[in-house]
Amino acid sequence: MKNKSKQSTTVFITGANGGMGLETTKILFEKGYGTIILACRTEEKAKGAKDKILLEAVNNNGADALKTYGGFDMNAPQSIEKAVSALPSDQKIDVVFLQSGGVIFGKDFEYIHWKGKKIEKTIFQNVIGGYIVLQNLKRRNLLSENFRVIYAGGEGARGIPGMMDKPTFNSPKVLRDYIEGNLKGQKYHDMNAMGTSKLMSALLVAKLAQEAQQGEEYIWFTPGLTYGTNGLATKPAFERWFLENVGFNIMKWLGMAQSPFQAAEKYVSAIDGLRGENGDILGSPEKKTLGATVDQKPMNSAFTDQNLIDEFYSIVQEVYPELEVIR
Ligand SMILES: NC(=O)c1ccc[n+]([C@@H]2O[C@H](COP(=O)([O-])OP(=O)(O)OC[C@H]3O[C@@H](n4cnc5c(N)ncnc54)[C@H](OP(=O)(O)O)[C@@H]3O)[C@@H](O)[C@H]2O)c1
Repeated sequence: MKNKSKQSTTVFITGANGGMGLETTKILFEKGYGTIILACRTEEKAKGAKDKILLEAVNNNGADALKTYGGFDMNAPQSIEKAVSALPSDQKIDVVFLQSGGVIFGKDFEYIHWKGKKIEKTIFQNVIGGYIVLQNLKRRNLLSENFRVIYAGGEGARGIPGMMDKPTFNSPKVLRDYIEGNLKGQKYHDMNAMGTSKLMSALLVAKLAQEAQQGEEYIWFTPGLTYGTNGLATKPAFERWFLENVGFNIMKWLGMAQSPFQAAEKYVSAIDGLRGENGDILGSPEKKTLGATVDQKPMNSAFTDQNLIDEFYSIVQEVYPELEVIR
């Protein structure tokens, strides 16, 4: 993929209608990427994103480059399967950017039930849904020979002092019990659950990177705290207003949060192949919400705990066993 021209490169992006997803898609479009697949929850949302990009683009590289698809609901495996089956079979994908997802705001854990398994919803929506997308793309043989997969990470995976606890699990069993809702005295904290889900995507990327074939790359990358996205959309109205108009403004002026465009520029550099290599876990410096892109692995021993990596992968495979490639 690194040696391909942008014009002949195909990027697949989930949540392309969201804050950073939309900005990333816009930049890719303006840079002249040949095909950008907007894989959204509904086709209307994908089309809405396309219209917005075409309206705002300074360099219009041809509306045909933007392909719109719906059905990519990260909590609904059957919908994902159907959505992937609607993709054209002759369009090989070079970069898969799995970035849809967000926090489940509330007071109690929620779970997704699928084929007899019960999985914490934040983890399903931010991690397992993306894995199911990937499995189905592989099944249909839609990935190019040297593909690159980028999972959107989050600083919460290694904790942010005063904002999100560092997620830790003393054993694979504790990890499993947390995910399956069997941990005694388990209390829900939405932002911590989000951080934990991002740690899970890092564990998954670690495993996929270990098993990658020559030329394939799996990267986990967080651009840092970003204001102005829809991330707070499901928060109660006043809290949302306060955080968006006061909290984020203060963080912006303190240099603790960036705009969706600034975040998207970083994602684009990862899509371009300029940032990140197979197995990288990248994000802002220790304890910071924003800053230079550095290796996150030393910030939480869980990132490199092989027992946790293997246990999470076992859970993922129990939920969604590997599919056979259709030849
Ligand atoms: N904002 C930050 O500070 C920050 C920092 C680092 C990393 N990130 C990560 O970057 C990614 C994008 O964040 P953002 O702030 O741009 O969020 P956003 O504006 O809320 O956009 C989220 C996107 O994900 C989609 N999505 C959410 N849940 C979904 C589900 N269950 N199924 C299908 N699509 C779903 C949304 O689609 P709908 O419109 O259909 O809901 C939307 O397109 C997320 O993975 C986030 O964790 C965010």
